[in-house]
Amino acid sequence: MRAHCLAALAAALALFATPQAHAETQQAHPHAEKWSFSGPFGTYDRASVQRGFLVYETVCAACHSLRHLSYRNLGEEGGPFAAYRVFNEETGQHETTLGLHGGHEGKLVEIQDNPYVAAIAAAVMIPDIDRDTGEATERAGRPSDRFRSPYPNPIAARAANGGALPPDLSVITLARHDGANYVHSLLTGYSDPPAGVDVVQGKYYNRYFAGGWIAMPPPLASADMVTYSDGTAATPEQMARDVTHFLAWASDPKMEMRKSLGLQSMAFLLVLTFLVYLAYKQVWRGTKH
Ligand code: HEC
Repeated sequence: MRAHCLAALAAALALFATPQAHAETQQAHPHAEKWSFSGPFGTYDRASVQRGFLVYETVCAACHSLRHLSYRNLGEEGGPFAAYRVFNEETGQHETTLGLHGGHEGKLVEIQDNPYVAAIAAAVMIPDIDRDTGEATERAGRPSDRFRSPYPNPIAARAANGGALPPDLSVITLARHDGANYVHSLLTGYSDPPAGVDVVQGKYYNRYFAGGWIAMPPPLASADMVTYSDGTAATPEQMARDVTHFLAWASDPKMEMRKSLGLQSMAFLLVLTFLVYLAYKQVWRGTKH
């Protein structure tokens, strides 16, 4: 009996003691960043989304898929590579440019005529089936293709990543609590483990990841993993910000349209309320109440 009591006491103590021992590896709250897309008037910073796409293609696409996205989505209204036909007053010619300012500069170029999207898709080799022989083959991508997945199936993905599955990133900023801040913190949050915490073989310490140990090696460990064509310095912090911005757009490409529609509806309702009020005044004019 006594032995039982002691065992129960020891178990109870162990229960209390456990959270204490793991206190150092408790998941940290994501760092709150300033994002241009937050708030009811927020919009994406198109230059950042473009740079972020480059980071995704160059670095993250080696392990992560983006299955819900097709290359053509990049060139649709609100997309990072939406192109516009504008009239250049200096040259007197119409030209095709990227819409960097939310895209009200000219007429949206149809996807099949968008040179940026065509070039991005063509640079990717897409697995296909030979029409004559039925053999597996590869061909240059087309705007209508889905983003190429790095692995043929989840088993291959796990096998290449020490048993861990790199999640699809299509909706990652919506799928995780405080999504954009979380992804940004995760990418910049690698460090040495606190003293006394046992190292987990094949994993990397990151205090923003649940449990503290993630199977993803620090993907943005050094500067200049990409070369930005706009001259922005590709520091790890900058690349993390940009790729997060890109993933936020990918998770919710229609956000800007939805917000602007919401604002228009509010404005309409406001005007309607005023008109109804005037009508009410008119109808009850002269009636004592
Ligand atoms: C070498 C392969 C590899 C590369 C490159 C890589 N990742 Fe990962 N990533 C993984 C693996 C594996 C996991 C799953 C980790 C786990 O479950 O422990 C993961 C997980 C994640 C997660 C999810 C964390 C969670 O909450 O589940 C995010 C977000 C992520 N990666 C973003 C990125 C971004 C952004 C890049 C590019 C800058 C990138 N990764 C590059 C392998 C990679």
